[in-house]
Amino acid sequence: MTKPLPTGGPASGIDERHPPIKARRVSFDWSATPMHWIPGDPVATHIINSFHIVLPEGEKWFIQCVKDARPHIKDERLLEEIRGFIGQEMVHARSHQGVLDQILERNGIDVSRITGPAARGNADRPRQMEELKAKNPRAWRRRLRFELAAVASIEHYTAVLGQWIMDNERLDKAGVDPTMLDLLRWHGAEEVEHRSVVFDVYKAMGGGYATRVAAWLVSLFFLYWALIGGSLYLLRHDPTIKKRVTFPRVYRAYRRSVRLGHVPGIFKLLLGEAPVYLKPGHHPSQICSTPRALEYLLKSPAAQAGGYDPY
Ligand SMILES: [Fe+2]
Ligand SMILES: [Fe+2]
Repeated sequence: MTKPLPTGGPASGIDERHPPIKARRVSFDWSATPMHWIPGDPVATHIINSFHIVLPEGEKWFIQCVKDARPHIKDERLLEEIRGFIGQEMVHARSHQGVLDQILERNGIDVSRITGPAARGNADRPRQMEELKAKNPRAWRRRLRFELAAVASIEHYTAVLGQWIMDNERLDKAGVDPTMLDLLRWHGAEEVEHRSVVFDVYKAMGGGYATRVAAWLVSLFFLYWALIGGSLYLLRHDPTIKKRVTFPRVYRAYRRSVRLGHVPGIFKLLLGEAPVYLKPGHHPSQICSTPRALEYLLKSPAAQAGGYDPY
């Protein structure tokens, strides 16, 4: 379960509720990254790769939801934060797409069967929302609130996972590919920076507690499905894996990866966050540490090359 972290280091006087949010124009060179970028651990590699599958289209959907709400937001500071959020998520989506195109595809794994329908869903959504808004504005607002609540739940988990990956030194000791580790930590750090934005947009759109709980439940099932289904798909399509991929075999390997600190205990982590996220007075600024995120961003090769330092 997440706890507020001790703050300190650079920018320790930062306002956790409203840190500056701006996109860093990062890029990554994947030419030297091996298929199993956690050495000797294809299961952990593919569990994290399943995020690479869902994030490009997932983050484009986050952006669509926030853009739909934007004309209804009056608070200038939140509008500025929305601009930063959209910029960051656009770069995230593009960067994870690079992993799909340049690592998985190069190594013979085609994920278009999963990403194709998601991309079509995103392409159709603006027209669907326009039509719904014209026909039934109340139903449009209800749908948008539900989607924003679902995105806010997922953003809780991306921030928690971001904090986990920044703090997890066992990945360095395991010899994880440094470019991949930088991508994951840079993304995780920016998730911590912008963790309050969608939650605040949801609240500004009049979102209440019941919808927050219902959308969290739907998001939880989606995350379990994406992680389990995505990992099994990747392991079954990995041409270097000769053994039959069965759920019990993968589960045993996953337990070992958790013990080694290569992946978090996903089942415990997702459910263990329920008392935090579902607390009626919860606000994302109460979890994770922006100073810690900034500390990483100041040494991230990609973020430094991207040339943005808001402090
Ligand atoms: Fe992101
Ligand atoms: Fe995010």
